[in-house]
Amino acid sequence: MSELDMPRFPEDFVWGVSSAAYQMEGAVTQDGRGEGIWDRFCATPGKVRNGESGAVACDFYHRYRDDIALVRELGAGAFRFSVSWPRVLPGGRGKVNEKGLGFYDRLVDALLEAGIKPVAVLYHWDLPQVLEDQGGWAARSTVEAFADYSRVVAGHLGDRATRWVTQVEPWVSAWLGYGFGIHAPGRRSAADAVAASHHLLLSHGRAVEVLRGTAPAAEVGIALDLAHLRAASGREEDREALRWWDGWHHRWYLGPLFRGEYPEDALRDWEHLMPQVRDGDLACISAPIDFLGVNYYTGSAIAAGEADGSRGRQVPQPGVPRTDMGWEIHPDGLREVLERVTREYAPRAVYITENGAAFPDVVDHEGKVADLERRQYLQDHLAAAAQSLAAGVPLRGYFVWGLMDNFEWSYGYWKRFGLVHVDYPSQKRTPKASFYWYRDFIAAQRHPGQ
Ligand code: FCB
Repeated sequence: MSELDMPRFPEDFVWGVSSAAYQMEGAVTQDGRGEGIWDRFCATPGKVRNGESGAVACDFYHRYRDDIALVRELGAGAFRFSVSWPRVLPGGRGKVNEKGLGFYDRLVDALLEAGIKPVAVLYHWDLPQVLEDQGGWAARSTVEAFADYSRVVAGHLGDRATRWVTQVEPWVSAWLGYGFGIHAPGRRSAADAVAASHHLLLSHGRAVEVLRGTAPAAEVGIALDLAHLRAASGREEDREALRWWDGWHHRWYLGPLFRGEYPEDALRDWEHLMPQVRDGDLACISAPIDFLGVNYYTGSAIAAGEADGSRGRQVPQPGVPRTDMGWEIHPDGLREVLERVTREYAPRAVYITENGAAFPDVVDHEGKVADLERRQYLQDHLAAAAQSLAAGVPLRGYFVWGLMDNFEWSYGYWKRFGLVHVDYPSQKRTPKASFYWYRDFIAAQRHPGQ
């Protein structure tokens, strides 16, 4: 990209990279960490490709200092990480594991020493197994356990971490985890998924309350997975399927968070499975937040469901480029998603908390990774992000998913999303071409014209 066609972002725009505890840390039995639902799920035959697990992952628990040096080399101003609940509270609630908490202390301090702002995520999918045994997110009692856990973490790191994300992609936690059995804990019950979705939202609200009390200066938000959706055709059935899908994936979360109510139409779709919603729940969920985090990867066309009773399905579009996940690449969809949430929900600020792509990267004979497709993906999405800014979206930052290749949930180590390649047997890190491109992009934003 030449200087001329490079989009310009405001000077105080936050440039970051993202990560998650279970995907990165490893050390799952070290220093008193308890069992999490992903440990159990990975140990269950047939759940994760090749029987892989996050037991070692990127060994970030031991190598975080070197990895922070990479973030620094990138010139990123912010690093998003998640705190592992079973590491901090091995029993889910109650006794704090000081050694576990100590890891996040060291991590936050090391980031600050490197001039990088920590963005702390309270929950990126690793529920303590003991809480799952007591009902997991389908049980309302998990919400209170989460509030207590949030109090411990915020009380400890809130003096230094000034940006917080409560929940990441509650749709994924609820539906892939409890509805379809694709993620931990592997349940297959629509009723459990709907119950989990309400409790995840409520847990967000409770964590906001806790953070406001504990770290009043902190910026607090939630990260939703928002895709760009369109109807596969102008037919009435396809437009109805789009309404249904959008209600299920997107408005089910945006409505309670920003309007204090579940959308009427989506509620009609799901009310037969709704758990008890108590007075005050929606007020708690809709307490004002400082930013909406948008995780954007893809877009799809939605058509009416098939005879199996599902009410919508994604229809692959011929000729649209895809990533290694099979996800269609729609950069302009990012602009549309950002403009839509701004228009309909008026968040105070928006961060793109995840954006990136998997490609089958290889280290070549010169030790380089020429991931030109990823570079192009990032460049095109950044151009779309810049256009959304010009259209009035209060966009304040952009985080690439992710810093390095890591444990990609049920895909194991097969799918590579990193700016940095990881050779798992040796744990060798190799920055890819996209890493250098993003570094130069950030530098050019900071020092235009140089
Ligand atoms: C998101 C997750 C993240 C990673 C990317 C590829 O849905 O939040 O952990 O798996 O997808």
